[in-house]
Amino acid sequence: MKGIILAAGKGTRLYPITKPVCKPLLPVYDKPMIYYPLAVLMEAGIKDILVITPPDDTKPFVDLLGDGSHLGIKIQYLEQKVQRGIADAFIIGKEFIAGDSVCLALGDNIFYGPFFRRKLRMAASNGEGAVIFGYYVADPRAFGVVEFDPDGKAVSIEEKPRHPKSNYIVPGLYFYDSSVVDIAATIQPSARGELEITSVNEEYLKRGQLSVIPLGKEFSWFDAGNPDSLYEAAGQIRAAQRSGRMIGCLEEIAWRNRWIAKEQFAELAHSMSKTNYGQYLEALSEEI
Ligand code: G1P
Repeated sequence: MKGIILAAGKGTRLYPITKPVCKPLLPVYDKPMIYYPLAVLMEAGIKDILVITPPDDTKPFVDLLGDGSHLGIKIQYLEQKVQRGIADAFIIGKEFIAGDSVCLALGDNIFYGPFFRRKLRMAASNGEGAVIFGYYVADPRAFGVVEFDPDGKAVSIEEKPRHPKSNYIVPGLYFYDSSVVDIAATIQPSARGELEITSVNEEYLKRGQLSVIPLGKEFSWFDAGNPDSLYEAAGQIRAAQRSGRMIGCLEEIAWRNRWIAKEQFAELAHSMSKTNYGQYLEALSEEI
């Protein structure tokens, strides 16, 4: 399975902060925002990753993540020249996907919660169709919204509905089989002029191939796309990490997945030893 992180948004809902810096590179407490979706892909066991960046702005992403070899993964970069919507990721990434299944993670979505790794591995091992998630929010109107029948089966999915049929939104993490590339090529732009990911999910629903995994109340999800959600996400990450559990820790995941050697892990940890983040890694590397 391939992985794509869509990190190409202008971040206009965060102006002026995002005038000189792309949104996915902004800090969410102690690490750049893009660490969180990348960590999710790595937890799912995905090693071959495409990062889609804004036009003429790939360099800072490369400065941060390089080719991924320090994490035992492979990262490539492509630009989204024109903002055509989320489903455009599969058009841009067609050659990268090369007939494989693919997981798309949005660059500003943050997830953490119990047994997430297990859920991700389950979604990644799904051979056919699509697997997405459902997450309860008080006001779902700004998101994709999924409606369930009494048996918990998804029956409709709508993008930013004025009158939502449920409180379950579809967060920005999507697992698809290889037919997503053809589906993305045939959907029509929405009223806001975008190739909506919801149109892709609707097509899978129509085919009877859409599974929705509910994420319970014990789970945390943020779309850190505006100042309030960014601030709240940082606070929540800080609070959660106080219990000693690090969230979005790429080096730890690489190590636990056995994708990097002990010496490489210790070296990465040492290079950041002035921060709590690095000290956490150093303590881990000494335990080994
Ligand atoms: C996008 C998707 C929406 C999804 C949301 C998650 O919304 O269109 O379906 O629920 O991401 O963050 P947008 O960020 O384009 O408003």
